[in-house]
Amino acid sequence: MKAERIDKILSICMGLARSEVKKLIREGCVTFEGKTISDGSFKIPYGCPDIEVSGSPLDLKEHVYIMLNKPPGVICASDGKGEKTVIDILPEGYKRRSLFPAGRLDKDTEGFCLITDDGIFAHKILSPKSHVPKTYLAHLEKPIDIEEAAALFAKGLYLGGEQLLPAALRLVSGGDKPLCEIVLNEGKYHQVKLMFSQLGNTVLELKRTHIGRLKLDETLASGECRYLTDEELLLITKR
Ligand code: URA
Repeated sequence: MKAERIDKILSICMGLARSEVKKLIREGCVTFEGKTISDGSFKIPYGCPDIEVSGSPLDLKEHVYIMLNKPPGVICASDGKGEKTVIDILPEGYKRRSLFPAGRLDKDTEGFCLITDDGIFAHKILSPKSHVPKTYLAHLEKPIDIEEAAALFAKGLYLGGEQLLPAALRLVSGGDKPLCEIVLNEGKYHQVKLMFSQLGNTVLELKRTHIGRLKLDETLASGECRYLTDEELLLITKR
């Protein structure tokens, strides 16, 4: 089997400069089959899955797809201009050049944030034409007439003079501060908050739970992430 230098594999897979790879190796962050690698010229059979960087498995694929359970307080961007971003909070082993969040969640929104370096896939899941719904849980400030609200959402509200696509709404739990599930077929700025605001209500907390048919992994604590499997990736775009 063809073997390749570990520093070259890391450089390609993580999109890092040789100097950055050298630093990782020097700091003892790189292991192969559980043993720390101290020499960048060490050769490894190509495609071998047993490389870890800072305890996280190295993804040898051309593109990566990461499910992050976004905590509130970090912004959904690659460059936070001084503010902490979803890219900043990824563990070292996951970081590679060109990663960006596919779609924006507000700073205070939590839940399923998909991070990738695959621009074509990101475009596909964000374009309303691709019909990839996004599902949210919203805690509201006040009780809601769910039948009336669901009918308005299903018809499609007007927001800033623009006709929205139909959205689904259901009550998860009622009471003074109800919890609702909303399924959107597009992603306008602050859309969920503005939709409820139009009904005279306020979203106190918002969490994204699904992208397409893929549900946020509930075993991921807030701020944790993992790579998607190939099957999970397909669930995102499956109709
Ligand atoms: N709608 C919002 O209002 N905020 C989000 O973060 C996502 C959808």
